[in-house]
Amino acid sequence: MKSKIMELARLIKNADHVVVLTGAGMDTESNIPDFRGKEGWWKNIDPRTVANIETFHENYSLFHEFYSMRLKMLEGIKPHTGHLLLAELESKGMIKSIATQNVAGLHVMAGSRKVYELHGNIRSIRCNRCSREVDVKDFLNKEKCKSCGGPLRPGVVLFGEMLPTEAWDSALSDIERSDLLIVIGTSLEVYPVNQLPMMTKGKTVLINNEDRGGTGMFDLKIIGNAREVLEELYENLR
Ligand code: APR
Repeated sequence: MKSKIMELARLIKNADHVVVLTGAGMDTESNIPDFRGKEGWWKNIDPRTVANIETFHENYSLFHEFYSMRLKMLEGIKPHTGHLLLAELESKGMIKSIATQNVAGLHVMAGSRKVYELHGNIRSIRCNRCSREVDVKDFLNKEKCKSCGGPLRPGVVLFGEMLPTEAWDSALSDIERSDLLIVIGTSLEVYPVNQLPMMTKGKTVLINNEDRGGTGMFDLKIIGNAREVLEELYENLR
């Protein structure tokens, strides 16, 4: 793994426009379970059956239970050194932006400035009818919108919904311009984000703790834990 991390450091030093794409595997070392990894959510609950717009309309109690549990689980959660090092590399001008599928906002909390939240942010709660932004506690208390009586929901992209246009367009244009795309901690199972790695004309690098199928397209694959790999990468870039 050491020589591959040194190779990644060399690629970063020689690149002009580095973009990072992250998934749930970037947040597991901050104690947020991923979805399809060994300890992931899918083991005991299939988010696809809950995190979708039909369940929101037809079984609000189940929807509310799932997202309340996820919001409560975020109390006390903070970025790990991997998030902090990515923010540091951005401030040094070595990476341009981060496109993430993660909704807990840890990249922004770590100080990254250009972050495209492709699947939204779980902490921003809004009324599904009038879009009024409300406090998380209104959602946790299972209240209705005080303005129009509509149902409240987290600002995440549910299965069956479109991705936020601005985040998607910005991520796509950055990746199309990139000469190095580093993909960290994602199974690349979910469309359309799983199309992004093919949009760069540059080199592609995968950092993941398991060697999943369908990752043959990467120029370099580093199998390891995101935090540990990023810590070692940072040492190679100093
Ligand atoms: N370091 C590196 N890789 C890791 C780590 C880690 N510490 N922990 C887990 N992984 C890997 C897992 O092995 C898995 O391959 O990260 C990947 C996470 O994949 P998923 O759980 O499928 O998460 P993700 O790809 O982000 O899911 C995409 O699916 O349910 C929807 O909206 C949800 O945004 C999510 C989307």
